[in-house]
Amino acid sequence: MSQTPDHPPLDTVRSVSDLRARIALWRREGLRVALVPTMGALHDGHLTLVRRARDLADRVVASVFVNPAQFGPNEDFARYPRDEAGDAAKLASAGCDLLFAPDVAAMYPPGFATAVEVEALSRRWEGEFRPGHFRGVATVVTKLLLQALPDVACFGEKDYQQLQVIRRLVADLDIPVRIEGVPTVREADGLALSSRNAYLTSAQRAVAAALNRTLRSVVARLAAEPGAVAETESRARAALLEAGFDAVDYLAVVDAASLEPLLRLDRPARVICTARLGTTRLLDNMDVPVPA
Ligand code: PAF
Repeated sequence: MSQTPDHPPLDTVRSVSDLRARIALWRREGLRVALVPTMGALHDGHLTLVRRARDLADRVVASVFVNPAQFGPNEDFARYPRDEAGDAAKLASAGCDLLFAPDVAAMYPPGFATAVEVEALSRRWEGEFRPGHFRGVATVVTKLLLQALPDVACFGEKDYQQLQVIRRLVADLDIPVRIEGVPTVREADGLALSSRNAYLTSAQRAVAAALNRTLRSVVARLAAEPGAVAETESRARAALLEAGFDAVDYLAVVDAASLEPLLRLDRPARVICTARLGTTRLLDNMDVPVPA
């Protein structure tokens, strides 16, 4: 539990049975419940999710769980930033009512053997660079939704493919929850807030702003030339390398729901990108309006 001068300590539960007991009390009072799943290391993007959740429900539960199942063997699970006390204080200040902070054994007890796989949507883009990642995300999000059974759950649009995977699994598995996508929160220079921005050196941080700038230029160019998708994508990849990125894992204009690549701008679309600075992968995406 943690405390700031202005807020009482945030109630914290660690077991599914305690979580359900707390939510059952609210349900008996007829209150609506929102869930904000996180992996902690909270920044203003997460707190915006909590504030949106507050608008949509009477009580807000946030989960903090660094989910081992969504990290590959060579990824940053061990060094992923963890600060439960700091997170609890931030959550309290944003209006969260309850923190669910299970340990790995509570989420994946001995004998755990089930996984949720959202097939087509998980295969491309992040799925290609992080095999098994969306299986881990889909499994833990399904568990969290079934544990809390909230009316609404809030997720950031920054992880756009993740958001689409979650929408799909909720529809396919008939989980009775509204999924609310919340717009990305950005630094003044456009960089999307992310817990992994903490890994950037100051030189890398200066380069990082080119990611959002480049995506904005893709949107502007396609507004003028909706047929020039392939050429716009390849110019944008080159611009990122020119700006100092070490690699572009992908940059693509895709169907906003299926995430299949588009050749021309003839339906709701999104430009999605992951580019690398050293070992840090930065993700961003933007809505690409369809010209009238
Ligand atoms: O976006 C995240 O922080 C995580 O992928 C999530 C949704 C909390 C699942 O672990």
